[in-house]
Amino acid sequence: MATDNFSPINKIGEGGFGSVYKGKLRNEKMAAIKVLLPRSTQGVKEFLTEIQVISDVQHENLVKLYGCCVEENQRILVYNYLENNSLAQTLIGGGHSSIQFSWQTRVKICVGVAKGLAYLHEEVRPPIVHRDIKASNILLDKDLSPKISDFGLAKLIPADMTHVSTRVAGTIGYLAPEYAMKGQLTRKADIYSFGVLLIEIVSGRCNTNSRLPDEEKYILERAWQLHERRELVSLVDTSLNGDFDPEQACRFLKIGLLCTQDFPKLRPSMSTVAKMLTGKKDFDENKIMKPGLITDFMDLNIRSTPKTKPEINHTTTNLSSPGSDNLDSSTLSSGTTSQATFTLTAVYDERSI
Ligand SMILES: Nc1ncnc2c1ncn2[C@@H]1O[C@H](COP(=O)(O)OP(=O)(O)OP(=O)(O)O)[C@@H](O)[C@H]1O
Ligand SMILES: [Mg+2]
Repeated sequence: MATDNFSPINKIGEGGFGSVYKGKLRNEKMAAIKVLLPRSTQGVKEFLTEIQVISDVQHENLVKLYGCCVEENQRILVYNYLENNSLAQTLIGGGHSSIQFSWQTRVKICVGVAKGLAYLHEEVRPPIVHRDIKASNILLDKDLSPKISDFGLAKLIPADMTHVSTRVAGTIGYLAPEYAMKGQLTRKADIYSFGVLLIEIVSGRCNTNSRLPDEEKYILERAWQLHERRELVSLVDTSLNGDFDPEQACRFLKIGLLCTQDFPKLRPSMSTVAKMLTGKKDFDENKIMKPGLITDFMDLNIRSTPKTKPEINHTTTNLSSPGSDNLDSSTLSSGTTSQATFTLTAVYDERSI
């Protein structure tokens, strides 16, 4: 009833989990109604247990889950509706939106997302690894305050049908190398994705843009080059027309580089990141090293054994050991080796096209 029988007019989007409709609840509140694809083999009881976990998690920078419907194979989630869509469709989306993101608004968004993620990682018990931090999962309310969506959904889907492997194209630029390559999913993988997102927000561009010249295609590579040349300020979004604090903007970009360090242990925790962003904590910028770039592995893969299961020579990489995040990997890791293989094969295919 809320969506007028899932009328196409009310459909507002579609993602890896299913379709999203705008709807009006009986109490007149607007809701975003997500119809999950019928592929979960999870029983009703397990599903409801996970839903309970998600709905107990509440923070001003997290999308609120109002409730759910469960009937035979049907699973529907009902969230509060956010008026200003996602960062993917507005700021990073390539100019189709009329919203102007001032520097102050960007600061508010970066800090808000950092706080929401710090809450998931460090205050919720047991901690929640989001595993799909990206621009389309950052929604904006009427005041352009950010809300992280889709946390806790990973567990609703069987490990061998992971979301990442079904929607590689939009996700790949956010994937920490150790997660993409070895399926090691810890909070540090989220922190990596956050770092990429942070640089996107400051620069107003998507992490990968194949239409740009080679040295500019991948935002992390670009940020590292500019950092080495002490020219980071040139990465800041030109649509701000210079109306920003250059010192703060460069600081944000450097924090983005810190979050994407190759060695997961070198990435700061999200609460530390939030303090760095708000100026409550300093960092030594001389310690920033080259970020972990999945493109390095892509080259390696293409040069060695295309189309076959990628074998990575560990002496040339800098991957963490399993469990390095001190979290019980069994509660967090639904990433598997087969998933990592799939991901890389897809990367190879995309490149060769
Ligand atoms: N609570 C919400 N309020 C307003 N719009 C929403 C809400 N949730 C989702 N949407 C819209 O629906 C679109 C699809 O969301 P969905 O989460 O299904 O896919 P996605 O974020 O693009 O990819 P993914 O499946 O990887 O999360 C979003 O981009 C957004 O525009
Ligand atoms: Mg989403």
